[in-house]
Amino acid sequence: PHQRTLAVIKPDAMEDHKEKILEEIHSSGFSVSQLKETVLSKEMAEEFYKEHRGKPFFEQLVELMCRGPCMMLVLTKENAVEEWRAMMGPTDPAQAKVSSPKSLRARFASDILHNSVHGASDEQHADEKIHFIFGEIDTDEKPNHD
Ligand code: CMP
Repeated sequence: PHQRTLAVIKPDAMEDHKEKILEEIHSSGFSVSQLKETVLSKEMAEEFYKEHRGKPFFEQLVELMCRGPCMMLVLTKENAVEEWRAMMGPTDPAQAKVSSPKSLRARFASDILHNSVHGASDEQHADEKIHFIFGEIDTDEKPNHD
């Protein structure tokens, strides 16, 4: 199915790898339907990653996410959710280097926390996070609840 997903270039990759990652997003056939660079507040970062609240790395993750600007992107493509996850590679770059050496995390991540990019895990998560970050701009398939 033609899908949209939320992709994030995290603060640890913004300075050195942003242009290269954007270039690869385009050359891999994604359309970028929304894009913005933003610094998350602590509250927004906590809400964005609420599924991970209580995990041992949660505080560090929130701190990383508000340390500097993130690039937020809505990507569209056939199977966008899975395609973007495949392009990122596994969460842990040590594993990515072994199983998917061409993936973004294999090349640009420094460790499991500072892993350069994020992607929604499924379509529902994608819709929820896109709404959280961008508001509901892209309304073609959504019922209107107002
Ligand atoms: P992401 O795909 O954005 O989703 C949750 C994030 O938490 C993950 O990438 C990493 O940045 C971080 N994370 C996941 N597992 C660990 C871990 N074991 N130690 C430190 N950070 C982690």
